[in-house]
Amino acid sequence: MVMATMPELAAADPARAELDAYLARTASRSLLRFITCGSVDDGKSTLIGRLLYDSKQLFEDQLAALERDSRRHGTQGENIDFALLVDGLAAEREQSITIDVAYRYFATDQRKFIVADTPGHEQYTRNMVTGASSADLAVILVDARKGVLTQTRRHSYLVHLLGIRHLVLAVNKMDLVGFDQARFDAIVADYCAFAEQAGIQRFTAIPLSGLTGDNVTTRSQRMPWYEGPALLEQLEGVELEEGREQAAAFRMPVQWVSRPDLDFRGFAGRIVSGTVLPGDPIRVLPSGRTTTIERIVTFDGDLPEAVAGQSVTLTLADPIDCSRGDVVVAAAEPPAVADQFEATLVWMAEEALLPGRAYWLKLATQTVGATVQAPKYEVNVNTLEQLAAKTLELNAIGVANIATDRPIVFEPYAESRSLGGFILVDKLSHATVAAGLIRFALRRAQNIHWQPLDVSRETHAALKNQKPAVLWFTGLSGAGKSTIANLVEKKLARMNRHTFLLDGDNVRHGLSRDLGFTDADRIENIRRVGEVARLMTDAGLIVITAFISPFRAERDMVRRMMAPGEFIEVHIDTPLAEAEARDVKGLYAKARSGQLANFTGIDSPYEPPEDPDLRIDTTAMSAEEAAEQIVRRLIG
Ligand code: ADX
Repeated sequence: MVMATMPELAAADPARAELDAYLARTASRSLLRFITCGSVDDGKSTLIGRLLYDSKQLFEDQLAALERDSRRHGTQGENIDFALLVDGLAAEREQSITIDVAYRYFATDQRKFIVADTPGHEQYTRNMVTGASSADLAVILVDARKGVLTQTRRHSYLVHLLGIRHLVLAVNKMDLVGFDQARFDAIVADYCAFAEQAGIQRFTAIPLSGLTGDNVTTRSQRMPWYEGPALLEQLEGVELEEGREQAAAFRMPVQWVSRPDLDFRGFAGRIVSGTVLPGDPIRVLPSGRTTTIERIVTFDGDLPEAVAGQSVTLTLADPIDCSRGDVVVAAAEPPAVADQFEATLVWMAEEALLPGRAYWLKLATQTVGATVQAPKYEVNVNTLEQLAAKTLELNAIGVANIATDRPIVFEPYAESRSLGGFILVDKLSHATVAAGLIRFALRRAQNIHWQPLDVSRETHAALKNQKPAVLWFTGLSGAGKSTIANLVEKKLARMNRHTFLLDGDNVRHGLSRDLGFTDADRIENIRRVGEVARLMTDAGLIVITAFISPFRAERDMVRRMMAPGEFIEVHIDTPLAEAEARDVKGLYAKARSGQLANFTGIDSPYEPPEDPDLRIDTTAMSAEEAAEQIVRRLIG
């Protein structure tokens, strides 16, 4: 069995070597990857411990350590605390919360298993998504006394969303409800109603007890009314969609280019779907160039054929351009290439989504800049209602359009976990902020092309006899940006330069009239100004902008929009106390008295440039001197 995974998430998979050794020992048996989800005290760890113990895969020394631990933790007699077997980290034990994904391996005569034990605590959606992204089956635990909870619904919805098609509803702690059939039936009926709404077509409900072992590895004598399989039987029996990945069209994201000497150039990666043979016609995306496969190279020699799941190095018949992030695909069945698509996002960071903010988007081996639009809706995982939302907070699931700064190669998640799943990463903190599942490419992305223009930006610039540039002023309100910008423009005009000044207050009367001062609105304001400035440089102008532009991320974004060397960041550096003392527009007074919210420097952040092209200390020179210095920096 070969599973495609969301590679970035699955990279969290620990103990790779241990896993490989285990897989080698049990090579002939099929592999089932499953996850367990439940609330903090549904008895998940106990159940997994019981599965491991009863399937007699515990090593002797592990068992001895467990007995010692159980004694230390005050467990009485020969009753082993199975939860201790699974909760690896001491910190978890102390908090009685499982806080990371723990992978366990065990095997029976029928099959081998990898179980990802994922935490149930509300704030740990990230770990659940990590565990679920490579699983075939999910065991959803419910405490028989409590029934279906918000957590149960959230986890079921998530695993369904992540493409897990086999669900087991494990109604645990049946011993505590007297093995009562009516209780079990009521929970199943309750879950059924939710499942139907969520589009979950099938699930298997099993009444069991992890503590007493009823219906875990063998059928219980104490619930004669239940005629279905024990949990382990179900795990051994589910039919895996083996071969689905192999049957799909060939795709291999390129991880690196192997170039040991001048004669050899190979493209290394893991085949995520399909089969490839020497001589097969292929296409390299996003460029679209075609050629054929020459050789399939591995450490153990050339292969006559390679299939999904294998890591190989391909050589091509023609020397076409191909590098990390490109995807080698079957020539006749290419996936989509686009720069705008709709996706479902699972938000995993404390800091909420900032629509318009540029994040890194990582999909297979591709990394691109991407912005998320305001969500179309958020899903209430309890009721499955679609709610209006301006952003996505921690653990929220929503749908939004995403635009990337260059085209990427992908498939809908429903068709390929590998090419349809991605993560979003904060550019400054490098934290993973969201997991995403692509739904479809936006048609407008495919139908809008660049119109080639005969009068080029070079011609525009040459006609004006100048080199276009953007002098990007940033600084607090009242720092003196507008005053200095105005002087700079006058000086340049006297030198016959063609300029245009974009000023914050003025732009907010027109182009950005619909925007206020929330973080999201400021981000959008700067994006618009950046685009306009970019067009003006295409027209050959020297653009001067005077905006607070408080966030590093957006100033960086604008820098990247411009041609290299054309963006000059000028920090108009006036200390807050000084700007507030001047208070030219009386806004600081208003902000201090609470009449004006989200005011920069008071209750809205300002991130000064770390390495500006020019820093103007307004306490050390006059506006006139500042303008002089800026013009010199530009003209030289
Ligand atoms: S930015 O953050 O989006 O770059 P911008 O430069 O366009 O801001 O606008 C700042 C100007 O708007 C300030 O100089 C000030 O005159 C006015 N203003 C009104 N409300 C605020 C506020 N809450 N924070 C900052 N400036 C404000």
